[in-house]
Amino acid sequence: MRRIDFHSHVLPGADHGSNAVETSVEQIALLNTAGVTRLVATPHFYPEECSVASFFEKRARCADALRDALAQKTQMKIHLGAEVLVCPKMEEMADLERLCIEGTGTMLLEMPLTRLSTQILYTLEALARRKDLRIVLAHIDRYHADDVRDVMLLPLWAQVNAKSLCSRAVRKSLTPYFEAGRVVALGSDLHLAQKADIKQYLKGLSKLGEDGEQRVYEYSQVLLEGACNLLDE
Ligand SMILES: [Fe+2]
Repeated sequence: MRRIDFHSHVLPGADHGSNAVETSVEQIALLNTAGVTRLVATPHFYPEECSVASFFEKRARCADALRDALAQKTQMKIHLGAEVLVCPKMEEMADLERLCIEGTGTMLLEMPLTRLSTQILYTLEALARRKDLRIVLAHIDRYHADDVRDVMLLPLWAQVNAKSLCSRAVRKSLTPYFEAGRVVALGSDLHLAQKADIKQYLKGLSKLGEDGEQRVYEYSQVLLEGACNLLDE
């Protein structure tokens, strides 16, 4: 089974996912053993803490370090993206589209963990209606079911952290979105290189079944059309 990990924190020094190149190399090796052949590196982007320009500068430095360390040692395709925390009026932010997965119009957007506010819903709607963006909401498994229901009324898509599918209750609440083709991406959301996390990731995926996983894989492929591969640069 070939897998796409749409959400991971594997860039050394980019955020709390990995503090060293060695950790990142180990993370990528672990994901590879779990059948992942493509991954999207999605370091956190917190709009109230840094500008798009400084995020890019830092991400490029971290990506360069990873590329040098991996050299020819992996077949993994690595795409550069971001896990963008939505904030009020984000739709007015300059250069926002630069936070899409490199080479695509696909953006992984994270909602705050607090209950959904009208202001955030308004911003999500404005972003979802932009023609140049395809918004994928990160880990919808984490939020209150009523909030998920409200945001999924918008023209956007969803990513699920595979390990959450180990829970029967989560599976039950997300089934309608899987069945309607609204879940288009699965992720490990890997922080650090823990074998136990990979085990949970695989266990969660097994609950989807091969056909279920394959369907999401195909959606992810479409969203990643045109994406640049870090190791080809
Ligand atoms: Fe994450």
